[in-house]
Amino acid sequence: MEVIENSSLLTYNTFHIDVNAKYFAEIKTEDDFRELANEEKFRLQQKLILGGGSNILFTKNYDGLIIKNSFTGISLVNEDENYVWVKVAAGEEWHKFVLWCIEENFAGLENLSLIPGQVGAAPMQNIGAYGVEIKDVFEELEAIEIATGEKVIFKNAECEFGYRESVFKNKFKNQFMISAVTFRLNKQPKFNVNYGDIKMTLDEMKVDELTIKAVSDAVIKIRSSKLPDPKVLGNAGSFFKNPVITKSEFDFFISKNSIAPNFLQKDGTVKIPAGWLIEQCGWRGKIVGHSGSHNSQALVLVNYGGATGNEVYQLALDIQKSVRDKFGINIQLEVNLV
Ligand code: FAD
Ligand code: EPU
Repeated sequence: MEVIENSSLLTYNTFHIDVNAKYFAEIKTEDDFRELANEEKFRLQQKLILGGGSNILFTKNYDGLIIKNSFTGISLVNEDENYVWVKVAAGEEWHKFVLWCIEENFAGLENLSLIPGQVGAAPMQNIGAYGVEIKDVFEELEAIEIATGEKVIFKNAECEFGYRESVFKNKFKNQFMISAVTFRLNKQPKFNVNYGDIKMTLDEMKVDELTIKAVSDAVIKIRSSKLPDPKVLGNAGSFFKNPVITKSEFDFFISKNSIAPNFLQKDGTVKIPAGWLIEQCGWRGKIVGHSGSHNSQALVLVNYGGATGNEVYQLALDIQKSVRDKFGINIQLEVNLV
């Protein structure tokens, strides 16, 4: 295992931010991790685990050790009449794993097609799309405590999953390296096609028999039509979370903004699309310096080439302020700021 000093992170983050790491190492096994973490030179360095770099904004050079997880392997660990339990190594590419499940006819992840990044990062923010979150099919994960090298199992409830949240993004931030995730997948699909444009897209695709492959294809079609491809245009997906407000805050908000799209949650709170709020403030499609808010999805901030992380962050702060000034709503960052 090689440790590279003063290593460029340009190709390791989908925002295409040009920063360096003091030290960078790619690890393929748990032994690699322990060997690295035990080395005298690195013991006192701050450490960051990196996956595909698709939910991160680097605002400066990283003064420490970046550990890129490249663990591979997918295995069936259990099975009963209704379910299969599949254990996946953290470094596997998320979308490839979803396609593998579809090929095997294991249902549950098809709505999460085409999300960039690696399996190990998926529990970090309980990735979600089109009415499904990984918590719905998550059994457990294996993690290594960075400070001690000890292996710990986290069951579903212990991860404290919420909307784009988990313990790993909050109280255990940067304390664990997730090494593998086990999912419980359905042998018989339970289709979830009520969200957004899925049904309409299936109709457009002239699908007569509903299959998990058809749902995945529809999700891929919708996503490709509005989300910029990070290979072409640097971005990290939604930059902010959609704000969730109380019923009384909502009643006040809707009395002033009657056309605002809104989604009632099971607990009575209401989710307002941040993309709509940002668009109403005039940001959609606006370019400021080298970055901007995307033309077909205002919630996605993009690097038009050569933007620094701070430039993107300053734009985010300006957007946050104008949404607060116009609507009295605070939109929180979804992206991990480093
Ligand atoms: P990284 O960006 O590498 O890391 C993200 C965070 O997780 C960092 O804090 C990092 O330190 C930590 N981390 C990474 N791997 C590990 C590990 N093994 N152990 C411990 N910590 C780790 N997200 C959604 O939820 N839904 C979407 O629909 C969606 N659409 C997107 C569309 C686009 C075009 C893009 C660019 C992003 C989108 N995202 C979406 C965000 C992103 O794809 C997910 O958050 C994804 O899970 C990030 O994976 P990654 O491997 O790239 O993580
Ligand atoms: N909208 C606008 N203007 C915009 C963008 C959106 O008015 O510029 C409106 C749309 O018209 C629609 C509503 O906002 O009524 C919702 O838009 P969309 O369906 O595109 O979804 P979103 O709420 O913006 C969320 C997730 C996405 C996920 C999609 C599909 C968050 C922060 N984002 O986006 O996740 O793929 O739903 O489920 O929850 C990500 O996390 O990176 C991400 C891309």
